[in-house]
Amino acid sequence: MTIDGPSGAGKSTVAKELAKRLGYLYIDTGAMYRVVALEAREKGNEAENEDTFERWVSSLRITFLDRGGDVRILCNGRDRTQAIRSPEVSLLASEISKRRAVREALVRMQREMGEGGAVVLEGRDTGTVVFPGAEVKFYLDARSEERARRRFKELVEKGARVDYEETLREVVQRDQSDMTRSLSPLRRAEDAFLIDSTGRSVEEVIGEMIRLIEKKGEEQ
Ligand code: DC
Repeated sequence: MTIDGPSGAGKSTVAKELAKRLGYLYIDTGAMYRVVALEAREKGNEAENEDTFERWVSSLRITFLDRGGDVRILCNGRDRTQAIRSPEVSLLASEISKRRAVREALVRMQREMGEGGAVVLEGRDTGTVVFPGAEVKFYLDARSEERARRRFKELVEKGARVDYEETLREVVQRDQSDMTRSLSPLRRAEDAFLIDSTGRSVEEVIGEMIRLIEKKGEEQ
C-alpha cells in the first residue's frame, strides 16, 4: 500500500495507524531522504559528483526499528529519529531529494524493503515510481494553511521556537520544490484514491481509507 502527498497532510499519522491495524511494516521514505540530507551535511560531501555520491548513499545502512509502534530510524546503527525532524533538515531533504544519485539509491533500498509485500510506504513518489503496481494507493492532501497549522503545532509541542507565518512559507516553498523538480515530482498516481483531510479528524480519514481498502478487496 502506498500513501503519497504534500507535507503536513497527515500521511505519517494515518500510515502508522493503518500499518498497525493491518499488521504491516511502516516505511517512512521521507525519513530516508532526511537521513541522507543530515549525514551529507555532517560529512560535507554534497559537492561530490553524482556517481561518487550515489556510491556513498548506497553504502549507508538505513534501517527502521519498530519498538511496539514507536518506529525509529537508524543510519549505520545510529538512531537519527530526533535529529532529522528540524525545519533545517526538512529544507535540506527537499533539496537533496532532487538529485538523481539520491533518488536512485533510496528507491532501490525501498524496493528491497517492500518486495515481500505487507508494507505501507509513505512519501511523495511511492505510488508513482517506487511501487507503481501497488495494490492500493492513496494521495492524501489538505489546504496549505491547515497543513502549516499542523506542522506549527507539532513543532511547538516539541519545544521549538517557531512562527506560524514562517512555517506556512516553508510549507508552500517545500511543496513548490517537491512538485516542480524534474525527477519524480510529487503528483497523484492516476489510480490513487484522492483523500482531502482538511477539517477532518484522523479517525474519519482512516475510516474512509479502510472502507476503500475493503471495497477494493471485494472487487478483486
Ligand atoms: O515526508 P517528509 O517531509 O519527511 O519528506 C522530506 C523530503 O523528502 C520532502 O520534502 C521531499 C523528499 N521526499 C521525496 O522526494 N520522496 C519521497 N518519497 C519522500 C520524501
